[in-house]
Amino acid sequence: MPMLQVQLGGQRNYPIVIQPGGLDQLGAWAQKRVAGRTAFIITHPRLFRLYGPRAADSLKKSHFTVHTHCVPEGEKTKSLQQLESIIGVMLKKRMDRRTVIVALGGGVVGDLSGLVAATFMRGVDFIQVPTTLLAQVDSSVGGKVAVNHALGKNMIGAFYQPRLVLIDPAVLATLSARQFRAGLAEVIKSAVIADKVFFTYLEKNMAKILQKQMPVLTETIRRTCSIKANVVSQDEKEHGLRAILNYGHTLGHALEAYHHYRTYLHGEAVAIGMVAAALLAHMEGMGDKKIVLRQKKLIYQAGLPIQGKNESVEKLLNYMKVDKKSQEGKLNFVLTPQIGHARISNKLTPFSVRRAINCVVKGFAAEDI
Ligand SMILES: NC(=O)c1ccc[n+]([C@@H]2O[C@H](COP(=O)([O-])OP(=O)(O)OC[C@H]3O[C@@H](n4cnc5c(N)ncnc54)[C@H](O)[C@@H]3O)[C@@H](O)[C@H]2O)c1
Ligand SMILES: [Zn+2]
Repeated sequence: MPMLQVQLGGQRNYPIVIQPGGLDQLGAWAQKRVAGRTAFIITHPRLFRLYGPRAADSLKKSHFTVHTHCVPEGEKTKSLQQLESIIGVMLKKRMDRRTVIVALGGGVVGDLSGLVAATFMRGVDFIQVPTTLLAQVDSSVGGKVAVNHALGKNMIGAFYQPRLVLIDPAVLATLSARQFRAGLAEVIKSAVIADKVFFTYLEKNMAKILQKQMPVLTETIRRTCSIKANVVSQDEKEHGLRAILNYGHTLGHALEAYHHYRTYLHGEAVAIGMVAAALLAHMEGMGDKKIVLRQKKLIYQAGLPIQGKNESVEKLLNYMKVDKKSQEGKLNFVLTPQIGHARISNKLTPFSVRRAINCVVKGFAAEDI
């Protein structure tokens, strides 16, 4: 069974267990990782019907008392009101500092539950059981937890690490094809920024991944998590290196915001953002055209968009300037001079940024540049 470690030093290290069928081992793993024996599962009604009983039974077998709380699906659930309401439920149930929060869901459940864990009585233990591909390869690892503010996404949050991440790739069987493909954008991103061999593996195996063939899917999740675990272990709070995980995100976030989060899923916007970043690196003389084309092809093979919907470049640039990842008004771009290597640049000329974005939102081919 593949197992990785996020290394933050001593007590704060935690395992990422990746195992098809692993949901039934939740109790056994939790027992080893946390002291309390009261579990509070936070999930969505639909996910509760699909996977709640198995998660709860497994915890009960390992002598946990289990409570479950369902929140509505969708980004709106990441709110201060939800946070307060969940904490109200926990207080009414007389839960205490030894309660263990179990996030059973995608990034929405994970981010919200993590902030509940970080703030309930100044912090209780937290277990991530991610059920979307995006959550399995990205949001459940690394301890960024947050809710949204009316003025911006993830503006109220914390770095709060889980005690355990338990990934069961088999639960992806019920995930929609669109959500699954969106998660693949983060997989491709990780390979582009950090692992050339993995990128080639993805080129060879994309068809099997899309069919959700278990050995290949498990290996894909393992390799992506390993990249994230490595980066987070070196730079937990994004003082430097961790920012490379934002490859494709500068434009990606702007595209999401431009359409008020209604048009693109996060991964779809990131996919377009990666094509723009690849093109930009090439325009800046950092890499040859082949690197752009390989990325574009793999993104396309994954069933993700490689061009925008003719958005206004000036408006997108404005969104990019207010993104919390921009620093003192300068645009931060992660660029990849080669597959497997990333570097952060804030010295780009507005001219080439405009040109690259223009090409990508209008769907000009990289070959035409
Ligand atoms: N903390 C981080 O580091 C980080 C990183 C990336 C994204 N995020 C956050 O993650 C969120 C997006 O997460 P997401 O893409 O997982 O979306 P999501 O949590 O909204 O899940 C997408 C949909 O899939 C459904 N679903 C989940 N698992 C399922 C399964 N196994 N079978 C069937 N349906 C299933 C959910 O009910 C939901 O409707 C955003 O809020 C984003 O800000 C956080
Ligand atoms: Zn992302």
